[in-house]
Amino acid sequence: MLKRISALVLAGATALTLTACGGGDGSAAKGGDGALVMGFAQVGAESGWRTANTKSVQESAKSAGVELKFSDAQQKQENQIKAIRSYIQQKVDVIAFSPVVESGWDTVLKEAKDANIPVILTDRAVDSKDTSLYKTFLGSDFIEEGRKAGKWLVEEYKDSKDPVNIVELQGTTGSAPANDRKAGFAEVVSADSKFNVIASQSGDFTRAKGKEVMEAFLKANPKIDVLYAHNDDMGLGAIEAIEGAGKVPGKDIKIITVDAVHDGMQALADGKINYIVECSPLLGPQLMDLAKKVVKGEQVPARVVTEETTFTQEQAKQALPTRQY
Ligand code: AHR
Repeated sequence: MLKRISALVLAGATALTLTACGGGDGSAAKGGDGALVMGFAQVGAESGWRTANTKSVQESAKSAGVELKFSDAQQKQENQIKAIRSYIQQKVDVIAFSPVVESGWDTVLKEAKDANIPVILTDRAVDSKDTSLYKTFLGSDFIEEGRKAGKWLVEEYKDSKDPVNIVELQGTTGSAPANDRKAGFAEVVSADSKFNVIASQSGDFTRAKGKEVMEAFLKANPKIDVLYAHNDDMGLGAIEAIEGAGKVPGKDIKIITVDAVHDGMQALADGKINYIVECSPLLGPQLMDLAKKVVKGEQVPARVVTEETTFTQEQAKQALPTRQY
């Protein structure tokens, strides 16, 4: 009991301090017009998905009356850590970030916790054992996305007994979507020995790298049946490489990607991609709701999973005219 009272007194003292300097206690320092202040440490601008995600966060902050401090880490963990430390120094009310890689966050997250600034993970997860370092994680189930890609492939080749040679373009090394999309896909296709992943390498989620790595795959492997790319952008870069090698994307080499951004959906509708697993970047509105709740000290679910679908070529043609990104 005594312990509990001390904890309450301590919480009260912390709350008093934070009234003056900002934090996650509901009485935090306010932005210019009394708005909640969020520091958002974005991964970068590596893909169409990321651009749509940034737009969603910025627009939602505006309509939710949240003052947004935004930084672009150019896909470097050290830049994200610097941005988070700067938000801690600025005593923002809440920090949200999409971790470029999964590991190496404990120290800076502990600093935010010690400053009593709540942290929300958005889009990507961290592998910290201490889940008290963040309030919630909003984003996709990347393992499930990988499984969906694998299931389509199994169905597509269900009547064939021949070996199926697959090349894989992984996302950023060490990132949650690269690790999980690889694992989910492997879990499904490894059930049938006719599927062989003959090459797997990172294309860093960018179009340029996707093209470069696919060119190398094509040179080294005379028979490629399928490309599984962890995002649309790498798939689109790979399409250029496939065409450059005189092959027909979508026919000579079947292509599965993840995201369903506009350019990917156009390539799917045009028959150059065969299947896309959706990963929604429109996380802004839910992020602002969660931020308001955690700053007020309200309970939020530890995990909020984004709702997503998949697209065949026919479905892409139907969806394209009303697609938001
Ligand atoms: O974390 C989400 C992934 O990051 C998207 O699938 C990819 O396009 C982006 O760069």
